[in-house]
Amino acid sequence: MLRLGVNVDHVATLRQARRIDMPDPVEAALLAEKAGADGITVHLREDRRHIQEPDVELLRERVQTKLNLEMAVTDEMVRLAERFRPDDACFVPERREELTTEGGLNVLAHRARVKEAVERLQGKGIRVSLFIDPEAMQIEASREAGAHGVEIHTGRYCDAPGDKTRELEQIVAAASLARRLELEVHAGHGLNYQNVLPVAAVPQIVELNIGHSILARAVMVGIEQAVREMKALLIKATQGK
Ligand code: PXP
Repeated sequence: MLRLGVNVDHVATLRQARRIDMPDPVEAALLAEKAGADGITVHLREDRRHIQEPDVELLRERVQTKLNLEMAVTDEMVRLAERFRPDDACFVPERREELTTEGGLNVLAHRARVKEAVERLQGKGIRVSLFIDPEAMQIEASREAGAHGVEIHTGRYCDAPGDKTRELEQIVAAASLARRLELEVHAGHGLNYQNVLPVAAVPQIVELNIGHSILARAVMVGIEQAVREMKALLIKATQGK
């Protein structure tokens, strides 16, 4: 089965625009679960531009499927994750000025720091994945860092204008190498209702984390309908898996 992780960060983005208490990302998460989400993902950014610490605490209590916490590889974030105890954690690169996570984590360049952070969280029973570009060297470094899995950054594929064959091939090759190295394979970033099928059909990929497109659709049709539509696409894509 291919799991759908729904990223509810942008419910909090809307709330923070007014700094009041609605819309509530926890309520959105529970509706997403009701509609078939297999997990809820949030990114606690260092600048706290959307998700706040109390959101993570409440999600930890109320999410019934599984909670995946995305974060930068910093001591502060590792300490918070040790406290929150999400089911899964995903280390991502973070730059304050970026609009969203722009590229994969350079595991190779920060080997020692990443390995230590992975060990700390996995020591607490949290499964850790590393958000990386579809490159062999980063996958091998992720394996060396002891991660449970990798999340392949699909941004290059999603952003490629016109023919996406080359970018898809990179994802296919990365997924296959990661699996050979016994890493669990996830993917995400920029996936939407138009471009998700070929990625969802990659046999080694067992989880997709999708945020922006689902929430953009939710504004028009409601979050339950938006999640159901995405889930139906994943089911369609995996019928031949
Ligand atoms: N996966 C990771 C690691 C991310 O950082 C993000 C964006 O926060 C996503 C998936 C979801 O990306 P999008 O919002 O473009 O679907």
